[in-house]
This record gives sequence, structure tokens and C-alpha cells, in this order.
Amino acid sequence: MRRKTRKKENTNSIEYKKFEMCINDLSENIEVNSMEQFIHHGNTSCFEHSKSVAYISYLVCKKLGLDYNSAARGGLLHDFYLYDWHIKSSHVGLHGFNHPHIASKNAQKYFSLNKIEIDIIEKHMWPLTFKLPKYKESFVVLLVDKYCSFFEIIQFRNKTHFSTSKN
Ligand SMILES: [Fe+2]
Ligand SMILES: [Fe+2]
Repeated sequence: MRRKTRKKENTNSIEYKKFEMCINDLSENIEVNSMEQFIHHGNTSCFEHSKSVAYISYLVCKKLGLDYNSAARGGLLHDFYLYDWHIKSSHVGLHGFNHPHIASKNAQKYFSLNKIEIDIIEKHMWPLTFKLPKYKESFVVLLVDKYCSFFEIIQFRNKTHFSTSKN
């Protein structure tokens, strides 16, 4: 039976190279790269998840005539909270509610961000964050974030389900 899976990004395409130019300074930063060590969903690292969200948001915003540069940059930093949320002692309070503000604080510590990028990071968990996103780009990123998270969890569940059912 054919199972639905999300296609991996074609990292050799011209569009992907253009996307990488938008986030060049961010993706070279050592703190941003440290997201690679934290598992986000299933077996997807926080860095991998954030890069997928950034790239798909970039494509959608470009198609819609929106600020794709801010979408790519905000998307890459939207989960820049820098801890393993699976470990309770690594953070204070409820991760789901608090991490957008921690990510925003970290991002503004290392980079100069515009108001769209800040809104993208701080509102990406809406409606959990109560305050409505201010920009169309923020809505794109929050929807793409949910889309990527869904497939990361499903793919991991299918992988573990099929590997245990073979034994
Ligand atoms: Fe998040
Ligand atoms: Fe996310």
C-alpha cells in the first residue's frame, strides 16, 4: 500500500540555493547549528525541522508575493530555544507556551531581526500564544510548522511501527 510521506527538499535546485542565500548568515552561526544536537519530533533534529519549515515557508511566501526573505529567516529561528524539551529539567514551565519567547530572546541576542521575523518566532504556536499573528508571513510559518511537525511524527511512528512489526 502506498503511504503518504512528505518529499525531502531538493537541495541541489536553483530555488534551494536562492533560499540558502537568504539564511546564509544565520545557518553559519554556531548557536544555530547547535540545534542539530536537539531532537525535536520523532528522530528529526530541531535544526532539520527548522530548515524544512524555513524552506517551505519561503516557497509559499514567494508564490503568494509575500516577504519570503523574512519568512525564511523567521522560519529558521522559530524554534531557536536551545534545549532538549524532552528533558523536564532543561526548561522552566510549559515548553509549548514558553518556547516561542525563549527562541525570540535567543534570536535577538545573536541577530538583528525585523518586526516580521520577530512576530513569526513569537506567534508560531498560535493559538497557544493567544496574541494573533500580525503578518501574513507569520500565518504561513505557523501553518507550515504544523504541517512539517505532523509529517515528522507520522514518519517516525510508521518507521518504528514497521520495524517492530517485522520482529
Ligand atoms: Fe515551536
Ligand atoms: Fe517548529
